[in-house]
Amino acid sequence: MDFKEELNKKLELINTELQKYIRNDDCPEKILNSSVEYSLMAGGKRLRPILIISTYELFGKDVEKTFVFAVAMEMIHTFSLIHDDLPGIDNDDYRRGKLTNHKKFNEATAILAGDSLLNYAYNLVLNDIINNKENQNRKLQALQELSYGIDRMIAGEYIDTEYEGKEILGQYLEYMHKNKTGALIRASVRIGAILAGATQEDINKLTLYAEKIGLGFQIKDDILSEIGDTEKLGKPVGNDREKGKCTYVTKYGLEKSSQMLDEIINDAIEIISSFDKSDFLKELALYIANRNK
Ligand code: IPE
Ligand code: IPE
Ligand code: MG
Ligand code: MG
Repeated sequence: MDFKEELNKKLELINTELQKYIRNDDCPEKILNSSVEYSLMAGGKRLRPILIISTYELFGKDVEKTFVFAVAMEMIHTFSLIHDDLPGIDNDDYRRGKLTNHKKFNEATAILAGDSLLNYAYNLVLNDIINNKENQNRKLQALQELSYGIDRMIAGEYIDTEYEGKEILGQYLEYMHKNKTGALIRASVRIGAILAGATQEDINKLTLYAEKIGLGFQIKDDILSEIGDTEKLGKPVGNDREKGKCTYVTKYGLEKSSQMLDEIINDAIEIISSFDKSDFLKELALYIANRNK
């Protein structure tokens, strides 16, 4: 398996699916719909839908059965980014290599674009459950995972704002990261496994893997906010420190944070290695630690 090739293939697959849900009819809320398209199609890494698909692939081949959830998850992630960038939260000007939604449009539009994406995601999943009766029970369980993940992401985002400019205990910092970023990553892996009908034992193991890569992903985000390349990242560098954000880097320093990240990723690789066909998810864990965007 060529990991990069496989990663790109999946990314293209997801972009093609997302494109199907872009609304460009001539209606009074046309600008709202184009602001949704602007942020959704701005070229994210699509990590969360990729996780849904590749976890499903541990058990089954018919990955098209995951597409509605994959699309919904990316919509929800994009909603979280649009709101995260708002003046009342992180007040950032660049995202995915472009002006943030509120800078390109305006604040009202950005708030509503986020709301619209969140609702669109639920609407898609509910339509699929009602109209396509196969595996309804699994899909309902997957929907529950999705809504729980959103609840935790919002909790984490709240804590992030509450602790801005303050000292944070290590255990609170970990809790914040596990929620604001870990929760949707954990939900993605669990959704892939649930849709595939995995056993509870396998779901539990995969959850541990997901929790490791979820925390690792945010630690790497903290590191890149300190020493990344703005051009490659498509978002600002140095902004966490500037805003007095609580991050692994401000709490533990760069070297210790990188060490913690490596340990977490090694744990994730060890956990996932007990599955057959785990090569892609192993490589994905390494990619999370080594990425520069
Ligand atoms: C950025 O997420 C926000 C975090 C949760 C750390 P990603 O790094 O996955 O952003 P995109 O989707 O690739 O733009
Ligand atoms: C983003 O966290 C988490 C969510 C959007 C839920 P950050 O604020 O640390 O991420 P970036 O650096 O803006 O992408
Ligand atoms: Mg933030
Ligand atoms: Mg931010």
